[in-house]
Amino acid sequence: MITSGAISLQTTMRPVYHFTAPQNWLNDPNGLVYLGGEYHLFYQHNSQGDTWGNICWGHAVSRDLLHWEHLPIAIPYADGVMAFSGCAVVDWNNTSGFGRDGQPPLIALFTGHHSDPVIQDQRLAYSTDQGRTWTLYAGNPVLDLNEADFRDPKVFWHAPTGRWVMAVVRSDAHQVQFYISSDLIGWTFASAFGSVGATGGVWEVPDLFELSVAGTSETRWVLKVDVIEGGPQGGSAGQYFIGQFDGKRFIPDFPEARWVDYGKDFYAAATFADLPAEQRRTVWLGWMSNWQYARQTPTSPWRGAMTVPRELSLRRVDGELKLFQTPIRELDTQSRERLTLERQPVQDTLRLPMQGQALDIQAEFVTDQAREFGLKVLAGPHHHTVIGVNLERNEVFVDRRRAGRVDFDLHFPGRHTAPLPPFGDRLSLRVLVDRCSVEVFVQGGETVLTSLAFPETTDTFLEIYAEGQVTLPELTIRAMDKVTLA
Ligand code: FRU
Repeated sequence: MITSGAISLQTTMRPVYHFTAPQNWLNDPNGLVYLGGEYHLFYQHNSQGDTWGNICWGHAVSRDLLHWEHLPIAIPYADGVMAFSGCAVVDWNNTSGFGRDGQPPLIALFTGHHSDPVIQDQRLAYSTDQGRTWTLYAGNPVLDLNEADFRDPKVFWHAPTGRWVMAVVRSDAHQVQFYISSDLIGWTFASAFGSVGATGGVWEVPDLFELSVAGTSETRWVLKVDVIEGGPQGGSAGQYFIGQFDGKRFIPDFPEARWVDYGKDFYAAATFADLPAEQRRTVWLGWMSNWQYARQTPTSPWRGAMTVPRELSLRRVDGELKLFQTPIRELDTQSRERLTLERQPVQDTLRLPMQGQALDIQAEFVTDQAREFGLKVLAGPHHHTVIGVNLERNEVFVDRRRAGRVDFDLHFPGRHTAPLPPFGDRLSLRVLVDRCSVEVFVQGGETVLTSLAFPETTDTFLEIYAEGQVTLPELTIRAMDKVTLA
């Protein structure tokens, strides 16, 4: 039996290797940026309670994206203005003029939310001490359309045109707008993109970034924009478009959007700004919840967790470009205990001689003559969460109808499916389990499903099942409980 850390933490379902606030409410990640050896993670936070409200920016820093040190609130809820979602960048050339002593300032751009009447505008704050203290720009707001639904700025430096670009949404119009700036203070409208893809709910939290196409010298731009309702499993989800961006205008290669994640709990993802060039990677993380039931999830004294940070790539599959996501490589060196099985045949059910609620599972399946097969995690006498592959229906799914606590909201229980990506003779599944969440990466991250699940503390078993027979040429399970995280 793999023992875990403090019982008091376990009974509240606090994850071991996923980020949570020390207490109270958390939603979107904000201001993800790297500076001077530190990754910064800000987040939508209510310091007063465990449900949404009084929104300010919580803050933490890390040297490896896994162990986080909590810092004081960075941007407060002040003067009736809540600090909604936004981003942070390093202003290397001090274009804003807020730098001091030759050091580049950190600049945050976020939405100011006024409630009576509702107005959302874009605001700037800066820090000259590695994000430890923040000053609100005296000339705020820096961008104001006098509209109620105008939010979530994401800013980056566009080197070919030598300017800053902001993507921001007019949420109820289902529109991403692009603005340009030379100093992060004055913003000029450049273009708009919208009314395509999923429009079942308002648009939120856009991100725009360039990725190289694996195995080629080409690049493409990915525009991600979330939809608060109408996702593939109901409720909130992220969609993305692939295309070109010339510094002013985004032109999609094709008008259809694709889902970023087929689970029910991946929202408001944002990429890190200013990762060192030698890392040669783009990393994002999202909020692991869904606005349908985010306020009701049965955890305490914290509510809301982030996904594991994920590396992004574009790959061509059967002639089509697709966004792939894989857990950051830092995760591979974290655990001390592991179980490896080779050439393991499974008929019916195999309970594995390793258990726990915080696991990193890498499994390969040869499908022999199976109709359906997969894993049951967080399993006990009464509960389990199924990660299954059904070959007749050509789908991969997460079924959490018997996961444990499911009755806190009628939208929570369910069996969530995704189209099964094509595979040769081996199908690979990587599954990250962390007490109250299950992240599934199919075929190297071509399809991803992220789901919350709230088992009993005794639901620690892990099983492989098959209707018919499968063989696992390789199975590795790593225990993540021993990882001591802040
Ligand atoms: C997305 C979102 C954003 C907004 C923030 C408020 O989850 O609704 O659009 O800025 O959360 O907390």
